[in-house]
Amino acid sequence: MNKIIDLRSDTVTLPSDEMRKTIASAKLGDDVFSEDPCVNKLEQKAALIMGKERGLLVPSGTMGNLVSILVHCQRGTEIILGDKAHTFVYEAGGISAFGGVHSRQLTNQTDGTIDIDEIKSAIRMDNDHFPKTSAITLENTHNLCNGSPLLPDYIKDVAQIAHDNDMKLHIDGARIFNAAVALDVDVKDLLTNTDSVTFCLSKGLAAPIGSVICGSKEFIYHARRNRKALGGGMRQGGIIAAAGIYSLDNMLDQIKEDHENAQRLAEGINKIEGLWIDLENIKTNILYFDIEKGKDRGEKLARQTKNIEIYPFEIVQDNVHFFESRPGHFRLVTHYGITRDDIEKTLGVLDNMVN
Ligand SMILES: Cc1ncc(COP(=O)(O)O)c(C=O)c1O
Repeated sequence: MNKIIDLRSDTVTLPSDEMRKTIASAKLGDDVFSEDPCVNKLEQKAALIMGKERGLLVPSGTMGNLVSILVHCQRGTEIILGDKAHTFVYEAGGISAFGGVHSRQLTNQTDGTIDIDEIKSAIRMDNDHFPKTSAITLENTHNLCNGSPLLPDYIKDVAQIAHDNDMKLHIDGARIFNAAVALDVDVKDLLTNTDSVTFCLSKGLAAPIGSVICGSKEFIYHARRNRKALGGGMRQGGIIAAAGIYSLDNMLDQIKEDHENAQRLAEGINKIEGLWIDLENIKTNILYFDIEKGKDRGEKLARQTKNIEIYPFEIVQDNVHFFESRPGHFRLVTHYGITRDDIEKTLGVLDNMVN
């Protein structure tokens, strides 16, 4: 049977046999009573890696961001975030629906940053007319901004602005290990002076479920209550945590390989007439390419997908799956399970698609 090369997202990974064995033999307990040994171990391990006091296992990155922002922002206060932030675009408006948190969206630049001066001028003055600005959130790596990693100094600068103004800084680090690998820094260096972070076990780390949030003891105390209120207390969560521990111990090298595969893919796409990609943007495992304007070859692909009404749209061609995220703009994501051969095959399929 021909292998399916699924490049839609790094969330599609399936657990390896070794990971499944680890899950099967996990010692379990009731985590709502804080008695699951695997969950406790994962939370301690995660906190140590992130350079924070405590960790908390949550079912998803979305819940991690929501639980964290609900700790930092009271109802009717405001959070500053990028207009392409996952929390703003893809989390069903949870912070506003469940927390009554007002969002102030500022432009995300192509490298995922938000201009520092724009952040400063978006902070509200103390006046009855305005919501209080309570927090800022940054995304690292930035999914919709070419999977770009944010630099440690930029994060420190934003943390300083936040704290100078009695605000908190939350990091959506769904792919923070991708950022650390791309920049060749310790994950902790990406979290200096930040108040909280969410990272996902179920993306580049290839575990089936789960995210961990980390922060101070006091932050996690409140986050735990928010998690319970949202239905995220998971009883024998060790089934998930065991896979997470395995991921942290074994999957970091995979991320490097994923980045190399994304580079190779991007270089190959760059050579296909009719497609366009900016190689400068490719730093991690997410890449976007476009149809090159005015080229007959690219027009063919554009015609094939032109009547789409809902994005992202899944393109399937010769067992290669990827997303068109908006008209003429396509996303490919490398991850565990995707080999160098798969990359070469994908390049052949893309070449045929514009032919
Ligand atoms: C940057 C970012 N943050 C948060 C999430 C949410 O993670 P989950 O799908 O586990 O809710 C995602 C998911 O793709 C993401 O890309």
